[in-house]
Amino acid sequence: MFTIEKNKNLTPLTTLKIGALAEFFAVIKSKADLSAAIEWARARKKPIFILGGGSNILITKKIKGLVLKNEIRGIEIIEKNKDRVLLEGKSGEIWTRFVNFAVTRNFYGLENLFLIYGTVGGAPVQNIGAYGVELKDVFYHLRAIDLKTGHEKIFSVSDCRFGYRDSIFKNKLKGRYFIYSVTVRLKRQPELKLDYGSIREELAKKKITAPSLRDVIKAIEEIRNSKLPNPALMPNAGSFFKNAEIDSAQLKKLIKKYPSLPHFPATRGKVKIPAGWLIESAGFKGKKFGSVSMHKKQALILVNRGGATAHQALTLVKKVKAAVKKKFAIDLEEEVNVI
Ligand code: EPU
Repeated sequence: MFTIEKNKNLTPLTTLKIGALAEFFAVIKSKADLSAAIEWARARKKPIFILGGGSNILITKKIKGLVLKNEIRGIEIIEKNKDRVLLEGKSGEIWTRFVNFAVTRNFYGLENLFLIYGTVGGAPVQNIGAYGVELKDVFYHLRAIDLKTGHEKIFSVSDCRFGYRDSIFKNKLKGRYFIYSVTVRLKRQPELKLDYGSIREELAKKKITAPSLRDVIKAIEEIRNSKLPNPALMPNAGSFFKNAEIDSAQLKKLIKKYPSLPHFPATRGKVKIPAGWLIESAGFKGKKFGSVSMHKKQALILVNRGGATAHQALTLVKKVKAAVKKKFAIDLEEEVNVI
């Protein structure tokens, strides 16, 4: 069933619990609903805006046109042999259910991405990543529907132009396609990526030397719970900023002044600096600004302490960016989609 609501409050549909009205709103649960919605919008010349899990968005103003809440769900094994499996998730499926589906069947590849909030369809847009793995490492292809023409197109890994928390869907094709399903290529033979420091530490703490997939997701759950606020208890949208990338000349200068500056090699000769460290060093970790703050255990996460407004959030974002710029001459870039 496909019903259009007018002036719908989007606040409860975001994990940050900050929102505004949608001029028109509908929940879609099937391809038929989607086609009907595209037709409805085309007839009225209204733009379409897709809302997935609402977990990576800060809505600051009324959204004109038709907002679609994607609840097209389902997970399917497309192909399986003794070495690999192709697993397809419909875009409105909850990401963590998708990971669970794989883990319970001993399919390797998604485990490090356990407990990332959001939907399957949001995963390629952001090229989600955690603990040394990004979606692009297991991505096979995705099916998307052109919101202008209604035609379906398959995107390969190179078509998606994945980068650090980035893809073509955030840039050149922003707003153009509805991602309908995502297929990943997983391994059937054990292959774990444990090199991200804290996973090994967590397993060592429990004296686990030959970890199973379950041990890995348990360890990740514990690491995440120790640092990341649960949005059900403290509304947030995950990392608010991207980690910064600077060149080696700038790194040299900064290290002279701040010898403890953490840094990791990035692509194209750049160096990655944890934005959480920069924000903490600029004095923002856990400091309250009305109803918002940067989280006391992980300064990269902006939290809504209850009833925060978009204005309060934007003011804090501005302050953080200005302070980091002043102290380190680094421009922080939002990871969250600010509308
Ligand atoms: N750090 C601080 N203070 C802080 C937070 C971090 O000093 O308050 C420093 C520490 O030096 C730490 C380093 O930052 O060693 C890295 O921190 P962490 O391992 O928590 O990871 P992150 O780089 O802050 C990224 C992703 C997370 C992902 C984790 C784990 C981005 C923007 N964020 O955070 O993803 O869960 O790595 O792999 O790349 C998300 O995208 O929403 C998200 C939560």
